[in-house]
Amino acid sequence: MTLPTVEIRDHVAHVTLNRPDARNALSRAVNEELRRLAAVLGDDPAVRAVVLTGAGDQAFCAGADLKERKGVPASEAKPYIDAISGAIDAWARIPKPTICALNGAAYGGGLELALACDLRLIVEGAELGLTEVRLGIMPGAGGTQRLPRLIGVAAAKELILLGRRISSERALALGLVMAVVPPGGLGAAVDGLLGELAGCAPRSLQMAKAAIDRGVDVGIDEGLRIERQCYDVTLFSEDRDEGLRAFAERRPARFTGR
Ligand code: COA
Repeated sequence: MTLPTVEIRDHVAHVTLNRPDARNALSRAVNEELRRLAAVLGDDPAVRAVVLTGAGDQAFCAGADLKERKGVPASEAKPYIDAISGAIDAWARIPKPTICALNGAAYGGGLELALACDLRLIVEGAELGLTEVRLGIMPGAGGTQRLPRLIGVAAAKELILLGRRISSERALALGLVMAVVPPGGLGAAVDGLLGELAGCAPRSLQMAKAAIDRGVDVGIDEGLRIERQCYDVTLFSEDRDEGLRAFAERRPARFTGR
């Protein structure tokens, strides 16, 4: 069983789904490892951002491992599904910026995993879809909740109820991805984003992410209270002092995350 690989460089964890022969499908072992990695990388103070991609150029992730699932007895079906949704939820809860570099198609749980990341880039020509209704099931790892929050109810219903596979260009038009990059250009595009993130204070990024994620489902008054709580964490940080000093001295800030 080939598990995702992890490489940490320049404060960034690069995680790669590593089953290209199975189009990086999410087996039980892969889900367990993704869940473990989300917790470890989320807690590691040396890691400031996480990039997730897939090996090969055919697929980012073809979703649940349908071959493995076929052999799962009915009595284990629920825990099996819990393992996928648990892994994807854990990924959504990483408190640092996460980038999904879609190197190819993403279907079902593969797209749900991408939806659990903050920023999505996709290679030109790759298709996306929550195709579960065509398999006699339905999205069960956040798809029916995260997709409408991201692109609106009407577009989410179109994709989910029709089980459609959409093009990279359509995904961009819907706001499902932030950019479409030419084949071979994904690495440079990710590096560009990481360069932008590197110029931002790590704690600010974490608190801004928390404010958005925690505030998006509550009323405006509660949302503003959450925002203030998160803001206050940045207020008494060394990086806030460094940011103001750097501005006054007309130089780039050197943030430490403290
Ligand atoms: N689970 C397990 N194995 C999968 C898989 C999945 N979700 N998706 C693909 N594979 C396997 C295929 O069975 C095949 O294995 P084999 O070489 O042993 O026969 C291998 O990956 C390559 O798949 P193939 O379909 O030949 O590759 P492709 O590049 O032509 O197409 C996809 C790739 C992803 C478009 C296609 O495999 C596909 O549609 N997969 C199902 C996606 C889906 O509906 N996911 C929703 C899950 S809820």
